[in-house]
Amino acid sequence: MKIFSNKSELLKIIHNEKNLGFVPTMGSFHLGHIYLIKRCIKECDKSIVSIFINKPQFNKKEDFKKYPRNIKKDILILKKLKVDYLFLPTFKQLYPNGTNNKIKIDPFGKKLCGKYRKGHFEAIVDVVDRFIKIIKPIKIYFGEKDMQQLKIVEQYIKTNNIKTKLIACKTIREKNGIAHSSRNLLLTENEKEIASKIYKFILKKKNLLIKNKITKHHVKKKMFKLGIKKIDYVEIIDLNKIIKPYKNINKYKIFIAYYLKSTRLIDNI
Ligand code: PAJ
Repeated sequence: MKIFSNKSELLKIIHNEKNLGFVPTMGSFHLGHIYLIKRCIKECDKSIVSIFINKPQFNKKEDFKKYPRNIKKDILILKKLKVDYLFLPTFKQLYPNGTNNKIKIDPFGKKLCGKYRKGHFEAIVDVVDRFIKIIKPIKIYFGEKDMQQLKIVEQYIKTNNIKTKLIACKTIREKNGIAHSSRNLLLTENEKEIASKIYKFILKKKNLLIKNKITKHHVKKKMFKLGIKKIDYVEIIDLNKIIKPYKNINKYKIFIAYYLKSTRLIDNI
C-alpha cells in the first residue's frame, strides 16, 4: 500500500487510474468502515481510502479534540485488506485557501442533524467535493449509517453533474444491535447496553410508529426512562420522499440522535 499526504505526489501516481474506488473516512476503523473498503476493493480495479478528521464539520472544539485517533492500527488494517492507496492529507493540503463558504446543499441538510449542527453538512460536502476533485474516483462509498450525509452527498453529485457514482452500503451492526461507530469507543459497557436497548425497542415498535399507533413521544419517554438525558430528535422519515423526484413506494426509517453523557449517537432503523 502506498501512503500519501501530499496531493501532487498522489496525483502523479493515480492520474492514470481508470477504475479507482474511493472510501473517505475519519479513521478509527470498525467493521462498518471495513465493509465499505471490502466492497470498494471487490468492485473496482484499484482502491483508495482517505483518513482525515475534518475539523470544519465538528461543531464543538471538544468533540473534535476527543474524536478517537488510531492511525497506526488503521494502517495495519488497510495493509491487511490490500488497499492500494492511503491518502492522509494535512489541513493545508486540502484547504490551501480555507473552507468554501458558498457550498449549496439540498434543503434536506437543514433538517434532522442539520438543525442541531449548523454548517455540518456544508462542511462535509465541501471536503468530499475536494477529495473527488483530487482523486476523481469512478465510485465513492458511503454507509447508510449516516443516511442524511449519504443523501445530501448523492444529491450534490447529481446537481453538479459529477461523474463519480455514489455506492450506498448497508449499516453494519454489533451483535447487540447498535451500529458500529468510531464514537462507540467513547462509551462504557453500561452506556452500550442502554444504546442496545434503545435500538431493540425502536426495531420492535417501528411498525406501530409508522402506522401512527404510537407516537414519537412514546419512544422518547422510553429513552428517558432508560437514562438518556438529552435527545436531539426521533423522526419518522420516508426515504423515498426526501429528495425529488419522489418514488411511489414508501420506505420508512426511524431517525434518532441522542446523547450518552457527552457522546452524541445517531442511527436510522
Ligand atoms: P466516518 O464517520 O469515518 O465514516 C466513514 C464512512 O463509513 C461513512 O460513509 C459512514 O457512513 C460509514 N460508516 C460508519 N459507520 C458505519 C456502519 N456501522 N455501517 C456502515 N457504514 C458505516 O462519515 C465520515 O467519516 C465523514 O463525515 C466523511 C464522509 C469522511 C467526511 O469527513
